[in-house]
Amino acid sequence: MSTAGEPPRRSFLMEFFAAAIGGVVGLVPLAAGALVYFDPLRRKKPAASAVPITSLDAIPDATNGDALIGIYKISANRQDAWNLYPNEPIGSVYLVVPKGTKEVKALNATCPHLGCFVDVNQSEGGYSFLCPCHTSAFHGDGSRIMPCVSPRDMDELVCKTEPNSDKSGYDVSVVFQNFQPGLAKKTPKT
Ligand code: FES
Repeated sequence: MSTAGEPPRRSFLMEFFAAAIGGVVGLVPLAAGALVYFDPLRRKKPAASAVPITSLDAIPDATNGDALIGIYKISANRQDAWNLYPNEPIGSVYLVVPKGTKEVKALNATCPHLGCFVDVNQSEGGYSFLCPCHTSAFHGDGSRIMPCVSPRDMDELVCKTEPNSDKSGYDVSVVFQNFQPGLAKKTPKT
């Protein structure tokens, strides 16, 4: 036997379920839109590639000490999840040939302590590197001159030196990467 209270309760339940079903149906296109919008964030970043930075007529002679080839600004296309920024400056690199080798080494010019730009300190006996911010000093091959507030040596980058196409000299390219400052372990910035 029905009572006066049942019809309102039944209609409340029906309204509740109708609203719940409507809510779920409405969420489907919203979720699909969010998936499409955030899709670039889920894609894996492509691995950094080697950027050609200079050609060398000859590897400098490093018989008597480290040889400094020069400093090179690096630009590259930068891409975040949604936009491409073409040819943006992303850092600088010192090219050196450590003493007694014929191997070109690329050092990131950003100080591993807190990220200042590391200068060259020329002297009669050769050169070294000096960070003006908190006086971290580095040998010509990028290793620290102790005591040093920098927690690690200058960051070495992957560097390729290959004979150019007509074998008249060498081309140098670098896989550029910035690293987290302040850490003892070289940790790539993402
Ligand atoms: S940032 Fe280079 S020594 Fe501090």
